[in-house]
Amino acid sequence: MIADPAAMSAWSEAARGRGERIALVPTMGALHAGHLSLLAEGRRRAQRLVLSIFVNPMQFGPQEDLAKYPRDLAGDLVQAASVGCDLAFVPEAAGVYGPGFQTAIEVREVSQGLCGARRPGHFVGVATVVCKFFNIVQPHVALFGEKDFQQLAVIRRMVTDLNLPVEIVGLPTVREPDGLALSSRNAYLSVADRQRARALFAGLSAAKALADKGEGRASVLLDAATAEIAARVDRIDYLEVRAADDLKPLDRIDRPAVMLVAAFVGGTRLIDNLRL
Ligand code: PAJ
Repeated sequence: MIADPAAMSAWSEAARGRGERIALVPTMGALHAGHLSLLAEGRRRAQRLVLSIFVNPMQFGPQEDLAKYPRDLAGDLVQAASVGCDLAFVPEAAGVYGPGFQTAIEVREVSQGLCGARRPGHFVGVATVVCKFFNIVQPHVALFGEKDFQQLAVIRRMVTDLNLPVEIVGLPTVREPDGLALSSRNAYLSVADRQRARALFAGLSAAKALADKGEGRASVLLDAATAEIAARVDRIDYLEVRAADDLKPLDRIDRPAVMLVAAFVGGTRLIDNLRL
């Protein structure tokens, strides 16, 4: 494990000097099978596999769950080793955001709406920390989950716009047997709320079933999803159909599309999405 960003960079420079490819999987820890699928794919794509664990204060709003975000460093290190991870980069907040820190990366359009509208500043925090970690770790390839669909779009846009020399790989969402997307925040759910949380995937699946039959009107697909979700969650934060590449709103499914949802179950805010 390395905590010091300078030591991390030195490690990567040595690996690059030996001609080794480096894969990076950025996480906030509390690892689950979704994270492990990213690590396993990173293992296949590079000689060196680095996991970063950093609960990034810059991407949490003042009313959000930064203080209570689940942390399990010892467990994470065991799981990471089990999938062949070479190194965990686990910096302190003070090491990432030094005295006088004042730079931020804003990926404008793709950060708008959805989680970007409900969590002001969230994607600036994500883009900034991911860019910093790319600079510190110098990976050839970095792996992200489609579970956070808008985040993946933000990172792809940033890498293109800033000519960052990193290949971005997006991987499908890993789910529980009943469809619930794995998330570190699922740990907040009571037994009863865990049952209700199935509604998100059930709703998305109902919409996808209609789209598969040829229904192209977003409003009809949204009604089908709402019927499944609204009755079982406490509040739908958003439920939208967007273009899969640039996340522009869609009224008709006339190009690759994705339905995205955020909803509160008990006090927990869950997100999910499904390509239509
Ligand atoms: P975190 O929520 O820990 O997620 C780390 C990575 O795991 C992200 O790329 C996320 O999309 C992916 N992931 C989460 N749940 C998944 C699932 N069920 N199936 C597949 N992949 C899944 O996302 C973040 O951390 C942070 O915003 C970060 C990118 C690390 C920047 O701080």
